[in-house]
Amino acid sequence: MRPIEASLADGPEAPLGEAKHFPIRVRGLCNAFGDYVVHDNLDLDVRRGEILGVVGGSGTGKSVLMRAIIGLQIPTAGSIEVLGQSITGARDDADIAIRCRWGVLFQGGALFSTLSVVENVEVPLRKFYPAIEPALLAEIAHYKVLMTGLPSDAGAKFPSELSGGMRKRAGLARALALDPELLFLDEPTAGLDPIGAAAFDQLIRGLQQTLGLTVFLITHDLDTLHEICDRVAVLADKRVIAVGTIPELLALDHPWIQQYFKGPRGRAAASIRHLD
Ligand SMILES: Nc1ncnc2c1ncn2[C@@H]1O[C@H](COP(=O)(O)OP(=O)(O)OP(=O)(O)O)[C@@H](O)[C@H]1O
Ligand SMILES: [Mg+2]
Repeated sequence: MRPIEASLADGPEAPLGEAKHFPIRVRGLCNAFGDYVVHDNLDLDVRRGEILGVVGGSGTGKSVLMRAIIGLQIPTAGSIEVLGQSITGARDDADIAIRCRWGVLFQGGALFSTLSVVENVEVPLRKFYPAIEPALLAEIAHYKVLMTGLPSDAGAKFPSELSGGMRKRAGLARALALDPELLFLDEPTAGLDPIGAAAFDQLIRGLQQTLGLTVFLITHDLDTLHEICDRVAVLADKRVIAVGTIPELLALDHPWIQQYFKGPRGRAAASIRHLD
C-alpha cells in the first residue's frame, strides 16, 4: 500500500531510477528480526534538497529504516536506491561506492571515545583518501570542526571532555567530513536543552542551505519538525503512512498523527507558529 502521501506528495509516480529528483527511493521494503516484523511493504521518496523529518513512536523502526537505506541492515524484501545506485542490489559493503557521498550522525553520536574530535573527523577521510597528506588531513578536519560552530580548541578534546551538545556537533563534523550530498541524522537534538536544540536546528538548516544538502532527519522533537523540516514522513503500522508538510498532515484523519501534532506538546510547538 502506498502511503496516504501520494495525494500529498509527488503526484504521478516516478519510476525507480529518477535519482535527479529523488536521491532516496524506497519501494516495498520489509525488515524483520526473526519473527518480529519491523517494516512491511514500506515506500518512501526523499526529494533532492529537502529536509525530510521522519517521525513515529519509539520502536516503530525509524533507525532500522535509516540503517537499511545506508546499507547496514539487509532487508528481507524490497528495493532501495540512493543517488541512483541500488543499495539492496549491492553484493557487499565494498560494492556501495557511493558511501562517500553521504554522512551519518547516528543516534547517540557514536564517536570513537579514544580519539580526539579532530581524529574522529579524520576517520572517514583516511578511509576514503588513504594517500592524503597528514597536514592537509588535519586542516580539513579542523575546518569541519569549525563549520559546526565548535570552538577551535574543541578539536583536541576527547568526547568525554565535551558536553552533550558539543558531542552532537563533533558527530556532525564527522558526518560532513567527505562533503556529502546526503546527510542522515538520527535524533540530533535528543538530550539537548531547548536553547541548544534550537541552535542545532539552525546549524542544520544553515548547513543544508549553504551546502545544498538533502537531509533525512529522524526526530521526536516537535520544534525541530516545525522549524526546519520541509516535509515530514510518519512511520506507523510498519510503513510510512503519510508524507507531507505539517499542515497537510494535520488535515489527515489518522489518530496517531492527530494525537502527535495536536497533543499538548504538539499544540505548544504549533502555537508559536500560529498553526493551532
Ligand atoms: N539488531 C536488532 N536485532 C533485533 N531487533 C532489533 C535490532 N535493531 C532493532 N530492532 C528492533 O526493531 C524495532 C525498531 O527499532 P528502531 O531502533 O528502528 O526503533 P526506532 O523507531 O528508531 O525507536 P526510537 O525512537 O526509540 O529510537 C525495535 O523493536 C527494536 O527492538
Ligand atoms: Mg531510533
